[in-house]
Amino acid sequence: MPEESMPKEAAYQVINDELMLDGNPRLNLASFVTTWMEPECDKLIMAAMNKNYVDMDEYPVTTELQNRCVNMIAHLFHAPIGDDEIAIGVGTVGSSEAIMLAGLAFKRKWQHRQKSQGKPFDKPNIVTGANVQVCWEKFARYFEVELKEVKLREGCYVMDPEKAVEMVDENTICVAAILGSTLTGEFEDVKRLNELLMKKNKETGWDTPIHVDAASGGFIAPFLFPHLEWDFRLPLVKSINVSGHKYGLVYAGVGWVIWKNKEHLPEELVFHINYLGSDQPTFTLNFSKGSSQIIAQYYQFIRLGFQGYKNIIENCMENARVLREGLEKTGRFDILSKEVGVPLVAFALKDSTNYTVFQISENLRRFGWIIPAYTMPPDAQHIAVLRIVIREDFSRALAERLISHVEEVLKEMDALPTKTTHITATVDAVQGRKSAKKSEREIEEEVTQYWKRFVDQKRTGVC
Ligand SMILES: Cc1ncc(COP(=O)(O)O)c(C=O)c1O
Repeated sequence: MPEESMPKEAAYQVINDELMLDGNPRLNLASFVTTWMEPECDKLIMAAMNKNYVDMDEYPVTTELQNRCVNMIAHLFHAPIGDDEIAIGVGTVGSSEAIMLAGLAFKRKWQHRQKSQGKPFDKPNIVTGANVQVCWEKFARYFEVELKEVKLREGCYVMDPEKAVEMVDENTICVAAILGSTLTGEFEDVKRLNELLMKKNKETGWDTPIHVDAASGGFIAPFLFPHLEWDFRLPLVKSINVSGHKYGLVYAGVGWVIWKNKEHLPEELVFHINYLGSDQPTFTLNFSKGSSQIIAQYYQFIRLGFQGYKNIIENCMENARVLREGLEKTGRFDILSKEVGVPLVAFALKDSTNYTVFQISENLRRFGWIIPAYTMPPDAQHIAVLRIVIREDFSRALAERLISHVEEVLKEMDALPTKTTHITATVDAVQGRKSAKKSEREIEEEVTQYWKRFVDQKRTGVC
């Protein structure tokens, strides 16, 4: 901290200048998180900056807006809510907090069940695909639940429901399916998972439930694929999280968790705080937080309505299609993302003997594009991909411009003397080995491993 104060204009200038070196959020195609909102909503956000959300008694209207959001989302996900009932759910900082809360509720319910049957309750586990986002690994580590991951394989980058159900045992607190895998945007087959798990539950007498991590897909599927059954229409789906700050179209800082009904949220996890004026039920990990994001979510719901969201998501899908076709046309890439899923394009080089997706990512940075490259989780770690997320503010003109930059980068890299020899020689030097004659596949793998060293741990960092 500096010893002396400085004029406010100077402080502003110093920070503003330094921030110019950050990337441009609108060109950050690495993230699902919203980077543009309407100026009217920006005004509401600024006006609520000084409201602490937790002071519910002082800001009852803000609380009411959050409850309306919970209700709207619960209806969107087909929660069975009677006319005189309210939806059960809460606004969170993002899907990560939402997942911690849902996971805790499952853990507690499972413990009760085990205790009531006189069985051990100290070794809970959770079954997911190896493609889960890092927040599931955090949940497992922080709350002492073993994470049992279904491995991926080349050509299948989501959880295989058959394998997941095979891994379920008496200590499984839930199976978590992802609606919109972070890595490829693909929806996991929740309906099939539900069928298989119902069968297993019937055979074993267990009661293993499903959580759906719909961080991105929760605001895609209801608008574009209304007949896809993935939500509370399925009997075993007991809770769902969704990120308001992804396709909920709000700036970073809002997520939601919704329970099918009251019975699935153990009462002892809800705190009743009364020292701020009245009884406030809270079930969150944090106490204080801003109100702006909740207000912004409500703004988007009433401003856009169902049709507005549908139009925006359709437009994103259309831009994803333009991009996918442009990339396919280069003849260099295999497209890993699916047409039914989150609007993103995940693609791998057909041949990476001379350069890799990591180098393409680096070279695109020169034009301002931020596009992540990463390797897939086990057992598909030899596949390295680039991923471009299409958000509302990514226009068709930008999609076309990006394709031309990818073409330019490919052309430049093709014209360079082959880098493979240099890179493999460096790998050999680093590892103190002598170059032996290698197959193309070996060279390809070494080149990938070489680049991966620079981006290690990045896979789980993508959001
Ligand atoms: C499938 C999935 N789950 C959870 C998360 C974490 O979400 P948040 O950033 O809202 O905490 C992400 C983030 O990208 C995600 O893709």
